[in-house]
Amino acid sequence: RQDLIDQARAVLARNDRGHYTVPTHGLYPFQWNWDSALSALGFAHYDEARAWTEIETLFDHQWEDGKVPHIIFHEMDDGYFPGPDVWGTARRIPTSGITQPPVTGFAVRRIFDRARDKAMAERRARALLPRIHAWHKWFYRNRDPQGTGLVAIIHPWESGRDNSVDWDEAFARVPTEGVAPFQRRDTSHANPAHRPTDEQYKRYIWLVQHFRSLGWDNTRLHDASPFRMVDPGFNAILIRSCSDLADLAQQLGETEIAADSRAFAERGIAAMDSLWHDGLGQYVCFDRAAGKQIDSPSIGGLLAAFCAIPHARAQAVAARIATLAESARFMVPSHDPTAPEYDGLRYWRGPVWLIVNYMISDGLKEAGQAGMAQRIDTDSIRLIEESGFAEYYDPITAEPCGGGSFTWTAAMVIEILN
Ligand code: DGY
Repeated sequence: RQDLIDQARAVLARNDRGHYTVPTHGLYPFQWNWDSALSALGFAHYDEARAWTEIETLFDHQWEDGKVPHIIFHEMDDGYFPGPDVWGTARRIPTSGITQPPVTGFAVRRIFDRARDKAMAERRARALLPRIHAWHKWFYRNRDPQGTGLVAIIHPWESGRDNSVDWDEAFARVPTEGVAPFQRRDTSHANPAHRPTDEQYKRYIWLVQHFRSLGWDNTRLHDASPFRMVDPGFNAILIRSCSDLADLAQQLGETEIAADSRAFAERGIAAMDSLWHDGLGQYVCFDRAAGKQIDSPSIGGLLAAFCAIPHARAQAVAARIATLAESARFMVPSHDPTAPEYDGLRYWRGPVWLIVNYMISDGLKEAGQAGMAQRIDTDSIRLIEESGFAEYYDPITAEPCGGGSFTWTAAMVIEILN
């Protein structure tokens, strides 16, 4: 146990660039948004100051409108595509133009609650509070223009679940005409069989070019995107962050932020029920551009348990995972192994990811589903013991996939074992 923690700390040290960490050397050589928030949880167990710095660096690159971008290109590295020239966001230190799952509100509250250095935690959390709140407001203003209580993502990369089966049908509507020729770099760092396809990459880049042609004006991008998807996992992360920010703001006497954040969370929880799918016994995505639910049994619908859904729903999510356990050795596969589109090696079309395991387990614990939460934690650690600190794992064979020496995987191990 201590041995695994020591190994995890070595992974974090290796990827530490001083004021931010890279997810892994080579494949992802910059700072990624939700990677940083979750990795800070690992640092916090032995270096609280470093944990706060990780999140502060991210927010130093927040846009004036409130958005926190998904990649910060701190130092140039042409081993990654698409780099700053493709994004064209015209910022002094370049960033991408889209965002990522807003898990920071959750992470900051957790680091604050556990802090040994209370004075430092209070000072640093207080400074972050309005900035995180500005990001949450940005989401509801720009990504929920009709006020439904749920936000849409406009690019699969925003979900973090880049090539999920969930996007297939909607993504087919994204054109590929006019995409400038490019060379992928990811497939020279990782096995191409573990990564998205070239066809998907063309569409990822079409969307980037489209948003860029609109000057990255977030008041226009939602309606202008042919891809507008309401993802239960993404919304659960936002809702959980809003309710955690409300609690934190309350403790710090910031009553206005507390009230706003509470209202976002309550409205979101009520709206989540529109994503429930009786037939599949889990939550599913809603394709806002097409106006219909997507019948896809993915982990996005299980991650919904990260926010305070009704206990009966959390129980149903736990039951659904128990069913998945009949066809895989390690929980929680990112797609149902019995579904025809399942691919146990290919990124988000089947593999297990420790960060999602951690969030589902956390939500299930809060909802009184301790048994399934324990099972998930145990499987996470078994994967590390069998296959090391990989980016993701085949849920049947435990084969390590994607990048190695992976920062957030290591951070989750420190979290789970502490
Ligand atoms: C990638 O490059 O694969 C990332 O997931 C995009 O953020």
